[in-house]
Amino acid sequence: MSLDVSQGKLVRLGILLSGRGSNFVAIAAAIEERGLSGVEIAVVLSNREDAGGLEAARVMGLPWRAIPSKGMKRAEHDAAMIAALGEFDVDLVCLAGYMRVLTPEFVGAFPGAILNIHPSLLPAFAGLEVQRAALEYGVKVAGCTVHFVDEAVDHGVIVLQRTVDVADEDTVETLSAKILVEEHRAYPEAIARVVSGQYRVVGRRYVKV
Ligand code: GRF
Repeated sequence: MSLDVSQGKLVRLGILLSGRGSNFVAIAAAIEERGLSGVEIAVVLSNREDAGGLEAARVMGLPWRAIPSKGMKRAEHDAAMIAALGEFDVDLVCLAGYMRVLTPEFVGAFPGAILNIHPSLLPAFAGLEVQRAALEYGVKVAGCTVHFVDEAVDHGVIVLQRTVDVADEDTVETLSAKILVEEHRAYPEAIARVVSGQYRVVGRRYVKV
């Protein structure tokens, strides 16, 4: 099943983040500058009250809400997130530095309509601290992946990837910064592709129609 883009209305995005929110800001900027059309940001949600991304949403005048996960059972927290996404009539969920693994109930509540961005070329380097892992492994090309979310971590169907060359002098910081530049291009582009509806998923492959 996939996102229903047939009604001709703007697709409502729900952005989920836990930190600084630079990918969210890049998505918002792409919408503002009309590089990304057919969508609107319905709400920005965070499991952390102190997330920089929430402050950015507040400054932009976008709806936002903190639903702290601390001390809450995973199922309970996910249920609260699903309820909030429903309240804001969200069609497409975009994880943008959301540091939580979703329950199967959450994934099942938005079939084919949850995206994530990950700072490696999946399936290499799933998980955390992946820029360090890529550097230490000695890869010569790194990058980022935007993928649909399924029940396994960093695993769903890949929408697009962007690459960067790894230089001999790169550090975790410089490599992360280079990848982040590509993330900010990749996420709006991937959202545009998904909301176009011009694709089908064949096995694990996302293919244009
Ligand atoms: C990005 O590197 C993203 O790929 C990863 O978490 C980081 C979030 O950064 N999932 P930001 O909060 O969007 O600046």
